[in-house]
Amino acid sequence: MARRKGLVFFLCLYLSIHCEVTTAAFFKPFNVTYDHRALIIDGKRRMLISAGIHYPRATPEMWPDLIAKSKEGGADVIQTYVFWNGHEPVRGKYNFEGRYDLVKFVKLVGSSGLYLHLRVGPYVCAEWNFGGFPVWLRDIPGIVFRTNNAPFKEEMERFVSKVVNLMREEKLFSWQGGPIIMLQMENEYGNIEHSFGKGGKEYVKWAARMALSLGAGVPWVMCKQPDAPDNIIDSCNAYYCDGFKPNSRDKPILWTEDWDGWYTEWGGRLPHRPVEDLAFAVARFFERGGSFQNYYMYFGGTNFGRTSGGPFYITSYDYDAPIDEYGLLSEPKWGHLKDLHAAIKLCEPALVASDSPIYIKLGPKQEAHVYHTDVQPNGLNLSLSEFRGRCSAFLANIDERKTATVTFRGQKYTIPPWSVSILPDCRNTAFNTAKVGAQTSVKPVEFDFPLVSNHFPVLQLMSHNGMSYISKPWMTVNEPIRIWSTSNFTVQGILEHLNVTKDQSDYLWYATSIYISADDVFFWEKNNVHPKLIIDSIRDILLVFVNGQLIGNAIGHWVKVAQTVQFSPGYNDLTLITQTVGLQNYGAYLEKDGAGIRGEIKLTGFKDGDIDLSKSLWTYQVGLQGEFLKFYLEDNEKAEWAELTHDAIPSTFTWYKTYFDPPAGSEPVALDLASMGKGQAWVNGHHIGRYWTLIAPKDGCKACDYRGPYNSDKCATNCGKPTQTWYHVPRSWLQASHNLLVIFEEVGGNPFDISVKLRSARTICAKVSESHYPSLSKFGDSDFIDQELLKSNKTPEMNLYCQGGDVISSITFASYGNPQGSCQNFVRGSCHAPNSLSIVSQACRGQKSCSLEISDTLFGGDPCQGVVKTLAVEATCSSPSRRGGSSLF
Ligand code: GAL
Repeated sequence: MARRKGLVFFLCLYLSIHCEVTTAAFFKPFNVTYDHRALIIDGKRRMLISAGIHYPRATPEMWPDLIAKSKEGGADVIQTYVFWNGHEPVRGKYNFEGRYDLVKFVKLVGSSGLYLHLRVGPYVCAEWNFGGFPVWLRDIPGIVFRTNNAPFKEEMERFVSKVVNLMREEKLFSWQGGPIIMLQMENEYGNIEHSFGKGGKEYVKWAARMALSLGAGVPWVMCKQPDAPDNIIDSCNAYYCDGFKPNSRDKPILWTEDWDGWYTEWGGRLPHRPVEDLAFAVARFFERGGSFQNYYMYFGGTNFGRTSGGPFYITSYDYDAPIDEYGLLSEPKWGHLKDLHAAIKLCEPALVASDSPIYIKLGPKQEAHVYHTDVQPNGLNLSLSEFRGRCSAFLANIDERKTATVTFRGQKYTIPPWSVSILPDCRNTAFNTAKVGAQTSVKPVEFDFPLVSNHFPVLQLMSHNGMSYISKPWMTVNEPIRIWSTSNFTVQGILEHLNVTKDQSDYLWYATSIYISADDVFFWEKNNVHPKLIIDSIRDILLVFVNGQLIGNAIGHWVKVAQTVQFSPGYNDLTLITQTVGLQNYGAYLEKDGAGIRGEIKLTGFKDGDIDLSKSLWTYQVGLQGEFLKFYLEDNEKAEWAELTHDAIPSTFTWYKTYFDPPAGSEPVALDLASMGKGQAWVNGHHIGRYWTLIAPKDGCKACDYRGPYNSDKCATNCGKPTQTWYHVPRSWLQASHNLLVIFEEVGGNPFDISVKLRSARTICAKVSESHYPSLSKFGDSDFIDQELLKSNKTPEMNLYCQGGDVISSITFASYGNPQGSCQNFVRGSCHAPNSLSIVSQACRGQKSCSLEISDTLFGGDPCQGVVKTLAVEATCSSPSRRGGSSLF
């Protein structure tokens, strides 16, 4: 039965058909408990690898593939938060559909045979809008978030119970045969607890009691919560968690967030965490007694719509994760971690059979942790073969600079700096964290399409690949720079932004009128001065318009504004717009945070003194006309679109639309919006997110050395370039032709230069030397270490594989010898086996994947004695159906 379910799952995946996952039980019902060493699943301690995937950051159509890639990469568990504001956008009106179909997501995880860690929160942080809180929550009278406050606790309990009950009704807990093995209450509350004094401490106790009272029947964690009560596991979130100790000897060491990259903001650099360091951190964690490790994120995805938090977090949530924003494997990260997981799994029997490791100092900065037992650990019913004679060891060199040679159990081991060697049998090295043998893939812009559609025969273009495109005109309509609807209202004074918008839109308009006398004009001219608009504090963005013209802006997190203004004699329209760019998602008292204008607002430099605008009459209007009239929908007759000509590209506050045909196939698609300024974009009515072409600082992107402690500034990339120019458009939102693209541009850009990109992993490379380790897959599965196999199989392998439905169409470089350089820049060295290319081509061409042993025999003998041999290969993947493969392009 289980096998049939698996088969159905993969059929759904490969045929990309919609299969309803209706089966109730995915596993034989099992219990989950824990002891001081590990989670105990169905009576057995387990060492678990978990992959963080947030379901609304992908589409349901992407979920099966993401889960399958996590499993293939060695994950046992999928971890996700639950996003309250997505599920209850209006109080009492729930949404569990589409990207918020949590039940479907959990069932997909179960049907793939993985477990699930559900972090209910309901506060999540996560660089998600308002940390996951619905904005209506701020309007509940007397509410103070995340403390001992009755109105807050009532709302929180209602939502948490709703989620737990839903999971139980759908039979998704382990004891019901479902995949959920663990839950989470709150999120890193320990960081802000002190802000609430006694109320904070009470709240922790209440939250724990409330969680346990729901009868979910699986363990709960509270991450970064040093005062987590008994029966709730406090866990670690950090770049490294190998020194972490939970607050009780009865609790296991869990790592709920291993930050394998980092997020970024508009105008920021792109963080990159080297996989050698990440693998080191993970190996050290298991070495020193850890038992559950989750990658935050394994797949980061996209903040579609206005879901990104902030302020100022970008639309991409790629996170430098092992699976990239588009769902493609990010190599060598994914592959190297897969090898690491396989090595850890080989150690699992020894790791679970020992209550704690034996520590051996091997050198000043070198140490071993050995898991070896002949003694049955208390309470675990391991069979004789499961514990007797098990021995696994981790040898660590924590020196940040030097390679070390150590002696362990009479044998010498050479360990690169800042690395761990894993010895599943206490003798043979199966893996070293600094030796990356995994494939690297490069994702160049192989395809760059003009925006085209066959529906509007305007101009025939012949592209370089021989396909004919017919370009479609761009249409445009202005967003009025004034109060545009009858839903406006006028009051005295300045209102707080969120109190008015309720986050229905990023934009809030404030309009007033200023009378300028001839005396004032004379005064300015005579003294050569200009009046100024002074505002105590604004966030996130302020635009200032006088008589419909944009005259200035301010950007920041509660920054002061001093803007010179020019008025004409008579009445002048002063129109302000404040904008949010993702609501605050971290910190205490989020409900008080607010946005827009704070403090005094006045005009200075007038003949008779300052004009206090804080008490003036202001007319308010929420949002854009185009947003509320839904200009982004097909056949919207409310907009008066006119054709856009090249010489008349309007600038501020303009809507644009066109139709385009995406390139055929299944590869992920992106829109390149580098030619635009700032705004929002929709495809076929789906909001693909905010865009902003803000440039990252020029400096701060030095060459990356994996050695030594990581921080998010350490290995940044993309200096001097816009932080984000590509915006993911999920394939399932596209049709074969005539796709409506609508853009709202705030500051000015050139829509004619927008193009469609294909994200592809078509150039793949691998470089493996004979000093590397044998393929771990040969060791068999982790339930049993085949000692003989482990000893006999010494030959390293080079593995190549194409993603999606692609096959290896050509080998563009191959050299067995001492090739130099890196992917896309390989060159032959002084040693080269002349038949390298033909041997590799024969083995790989036309295949989806291929493996080659790094051995002289395969290449017709030793090409140069005494040289450590390396095989470097670069190959091209393409779809088997595409005539001539990649050469078409
Ligand atoms: C953690 C938090 C996560 C996420 C992460 C940074 O502190 O728990 O939700 O915000 O930081 O990406």
